[in-house]
Amino acid sequence: MANNAPVLILLGPPGAGKGTQARMLEEDYGLVQLSTGDMLRAAVAAGSDAGKRAKAVMEAGQLVSDDIVLAILRDRMGQPDVAKGIILDGFPRTDGQAAALDGLLAGSGQRVTAAISLEVDDEAMVGRVSGRYTCAKCGEGYHDQFKLPASAGVCDKCGGTDMKRRADDNAETVRERLKAYHAQTAPLIAYYAGKGVLQKIDAMGPIADIRKSLGSIVGQVAA
Ligand code: AP5
Repeated sequence: MANNAPVLILLGPPGAGKGTQARMLEEDYGLVQLSTGDMLRAAVAAGSDAGKRAKAVMEAGQLVSDDIVLAILRDRMGQPDVAKGIILDGFPRTDGQAAALDGLLAGSGQRVTAAISLEVDDEAMVGRVSGRYTCAKCGEGYHDQFKLPASAGVCDKCGGTDMKRRADDNAETVRERLKAYHAQTAPLIAYYAGKGVLQKIDAMGPIADIRKSLGSIVGQVAA
């Protein structure tokens, strides 16, 4: 990765819109979305050792161990397509991951450009996440109420017709994921504030409004 390439972090609980907005930022600014959740789900689907260790933990709504997550992320960050800059979606999630990211970036003379916290109401997130589904072919995200495809059951982006729901997207597991977020990840808001790179945005409004708010921050560093 070029040493002036932006390194953006999206912080927020399950359902805050990290994935939705990261994919839009990819389109708008040519950055690469790195979702550790997507990487872990791919490892589970592939039946790799890491995937086997992660599966039950993810289904219980707990965080996968730092060693597994960091190995997967380091591997991904070593690939050439990240050269223009990255949006980290769902990483870091613990103090240890944040420190490891700082170390990884320092190795190439870089630092986190901005950490953006998507501020939302927990209870609303249970409804958002429970109604979510994605296109199995291209990963585009939809929602039973808030984001329907133009034609029922057909992906707007790729025309795929196989839609899927995540194993951890039920109300009970979402509540466990919210607990894990507040206990282990929310403290990173203060960590990045201390480094002078934190921005907060209200993420309770419509998706298009949040895209604009994010654009006003990201446009300054990734134009
Ligand atoms: P991960 O895949 O990262 O899930 P998450 O953080 O729980 O976040 P979500 O994907 O549920 O929500 P999101 O914020 O991306 O919201 P989205 O845009 O989809 O992690 C899953 C699991 O993997 C973890 O629980 C853990 O076990 C493990 N894991 C992953 N990373 C890890 C790490 N670093 N360390 C340890 N373990 C890790 O939006 C949700 C829905 O709402 C969508 O349907 C969307 O269309 C809709 N929506 C979005 N914005 C709006 C809006 N403004 N208004 C209305 N609807 C909206």
